[in-house]
Amino acid sequence: MNFRTIIEPFRIKSVESVKFTRREDRVEALSAAGFNVFRLRADDVLIDLLTDSGTGAMSSMQWAAIMQADESYAGSRSFYRFEQVVQDLTGFKHIIPTHQGRAAERILFHTILSPGMVVPNNNHFDTTRANIEVEEAEAIDLVIPEGRIPHVLHPFKGNVDLAALDRLLDERGDVVPLVMVTVTNNSGGGQPVSLENLRAVRDICHKYEKPFFLDACRFAENAWFVKLREPGQADRTPKAIAQEIFSLADGCTMSAKKDGLANIGGFLAMNDDSWAEAARNLLILTEGFPTYGGLAGYDLEAIARGLEEVVDESYLRYRIRSTEYLGDKLIAADVPIIRPPGGHAIYIDAKALLPHIPALQYPGIALANALYVEAGIRGVEIGTVMFGMRPDGTEVPASMELVRLAIPRRVYTQSHIDYVAEAVIHVASQRGELRGYRLLEAPRALRHFTARFEPA
Ligand code: F0G
Repeated sequence: MNFRTIIEPFRIKSVESVKFTRREDRVEALSAAGFNVFRLRADDVLIDLLTDSGTGAMSSMQWAAIMQADESYAGSRSFYRFEQVVQDLTGFKHIIPTHQGRAAERILFHTILSPGMVVPNNNHFDTTRANIEVEEAEAIDLVIPEGRIPHVLHPFKGNVDLAALDRLLDERGDVVPLVMVTVTNNSGGGQPVSLENLRAVRDICHKYEKPFFLDACRFAENAWFVKLREPGQADRTPKAIAQEIFSLADGCTMSAKKDGLANIGGFLAMNDDSWAEAARNLLILTEGFPTYGGLAGYDLEAIARGLEEVVDESYLRYRIRSTEYLGDKLIAADVPIIRPPGGHAIYIDAKALLPHIPALQYPGIALANALYVEAGIRGVEIGTVMFGMRPDGTEVPASMELVRLAIPRRVYTQSHIDYVAEAVIHVASQRGELRGYRLLEAPRALRHFTARFEPA
């Protein structure tokens, strides 16, 4: 008998209490935090959906591996275990550990970029874009048109617009040092990229002799979507699909805080010997010796084990289904979200939900704050506060006003998610009462982390 109920594929050995607060406490905490949920103390949050990065629960096997780690400065046994697991998965020749994903990005881009160069991607994540722009190069987003419209359904909304990529390389190929694709496409709603699209990107890269790099943070979630949705892939294991995805590329950046199932860590991997040598030289300058790269031996062990666990079918079935489960409940209640639901998060369309709040009064902040006050849930605005500040100091509305509810891996149970759905639906039912915010103070770069607001 194949039962229909998909259960958490683990049981819980160690628990962490969550703190229940009263509504008036949350009103006070939010006000003290300048109406910016980033500034709250995590202890004042009941269910924390700010990010899926570094917030996952490790397994007993990971904790056991941590105890066995080798903390030697150079040539640690834990590095060789990490290297072997990453090589088995990715096939890349050079495996360079870093303290997290953006460190891999910084090292890669500082090594290969010079002013005026251009890096295409489906959608650059903010740190990827920032690490390109700091080298005075340009980050270009080439996701397919369907990937830009929240309600439009498409099985692979993270796909690259192949004609646009070919055109870019034809017209400006001399200033493009590499092509990137983000799997899954976080900035586009956690949406997957198909194998067919990745193969075509690889072919275009061959045609123009450009290296192809993956931003691989959520490679396992992407592999699962390929298995579910791509014709001919249903009988393959997620690991085999992931291995094929990596085999199409010449290198990758990785944040192990996502599909590494670890609380910290990342890596840069590639086949090219001379780029790798330059990257390792920079690594020594800012991260550490090439066999630890800013990580403890126990982090390398946790990541190695995490990368083996993350491609497990029962884990991925539960992971993707539990995100979809939240999405389905919101769709059924007519709460507008990016559809179909992504792999690691649900993105509520605050512009559609709160049409009475102008973009420059930040509908995403209004919704995120209401979710906190009403239910103790912390999500994050992905809209005009995050993207609306131009280098000259003027403000323009972002193309989308979203609130992301990112689901930490193996942390919350189905009843937590039921609670989240009930709370979002309740806040949505009171949408007319939500008001916008005015910005009080903010730095010019990455202002969403520290900005302070007041009710408009
Ligand atoms: N690339 C993608 C697609 C990401 O989602 C992230 C991080 C990074 C790179 C950078 O990795 O944080 O280890 O330096 N995303 C987190 C998030 C922060 O909340 O989406 P990092």
